[in-house]
Amino acid sequence: MDEILKEAKEKIKSAESMEELNKIKVEFLGKKGKVSLLMKRIKEIPPEERKEYGKAVNDLKKKIESMISERAEDLKALEKRKMYEKMWVDVTIPGARRKTGHEHPVMRIWREMEDIFVSMGYEVVEGPEVEDTWHNFDALNTPEWHPARDEHDSFYFSDDLLLRTHTSPVQIRTMLSKKPPIAIVSPGKVYRRDYDATHLPVFHQLEGLYVDKKVNVGHLKFTLSEFARKMFGESSKVRLRPSFFPFTEPSFEVDVYLEGYGWLEILGAGMVDPEVFKNVGYDPEEWSGFAFGMGIDRVAMLKYKITDIRELVKNDARFLSSY
Ligand code: PHE
Repeated sequence: MDEILKEAKEKIKSAESMEELNKIKVEFLGKKGKVSLLMKRIKEIPPEERKEYGKAVNDLKKKIESMISERAEDLKALEKRKMYEKMWVDVTIPGARRKTGHEHPVMRIWREMEDIFVSMGYEVVEGPEVEDTWHNFDALNTPEWHPARDEHDSFYFSDDLLLRTHTSPVQIRTMLSKKPPIAIVSPGKVYRRDYDATHLPVFHQLEGLYVDKKVNVGHLKFTLSEFARKMFGESSKVRLRPSFFPFTEPSFEVDVYLEGYGWLEILGAGMVDPEVFKNVGYDPEEWSGFAFGMGIDRVAMLKYKITDIRELVKNDARFLSSY
């Protein structure tokens, strides 16, 4: 019995799994197990010793049983721990970053331009993209023979309805609905029949209009210089060159000086033509103003050094993500 107890003790101690332990249980306590065999041999024992013998075998059985259940507890705990180890997750590891998009370069410049003019007290006004020829041309003093009115240059729906060729009609709409002083910028989509490395049939403009008493070219130049410095940096400056627009007199092409580039033509501008004031019912003797307009896409190209404007509308994520 001592030997059996010793053997059982060692085996139970070294059992590494519940499966192994169950086998040991069968080996000692099963129907044909070592302890059961001892019990069966009780017949061979002299009658007066049987009671003591039986008690000894029973004790052995109980000892082994309790050793097995003790070990079973240990093994269950061990198995649980192993399972938790397998399931363990390091919650402190930074997660895999999900790729997100960002503002399109044109939209970013659009917003930056708006912000600059809003900081100077301008209001942002938008208008319809489908315009009538009166708002798009006539009210802006654009004569019948002007090339911009040609079907080759503009998208017409009918004789007097078209996709606006510039955002200047928003200035007309604003002056018709409001009394001066006026300080607005009108950003938005405009349409022309053009398509090459520097022109898109749909592009974006931001135009400005300032109307008050005694406005002069100095105010215009100051405003655009401020804009250039905020948009392109402190070293940036502007220069005006004489030009022609039907709706301004005098008119200018405005060049912006960009470090590393030199002078670049970015804006059209001028003093609002008295004829335009008359068309919206303003007295040109009392009111004066300036207007300017520029391509948002063109500024985006300059700022981000993009050479082919068509890249902006290809929607190639590899291209866009680099801006
Ligand atoms: N409307 C002009 C254009 O589209 C730009 C401009 C606006 C010029 C205002 C002068 C004054 O080219």
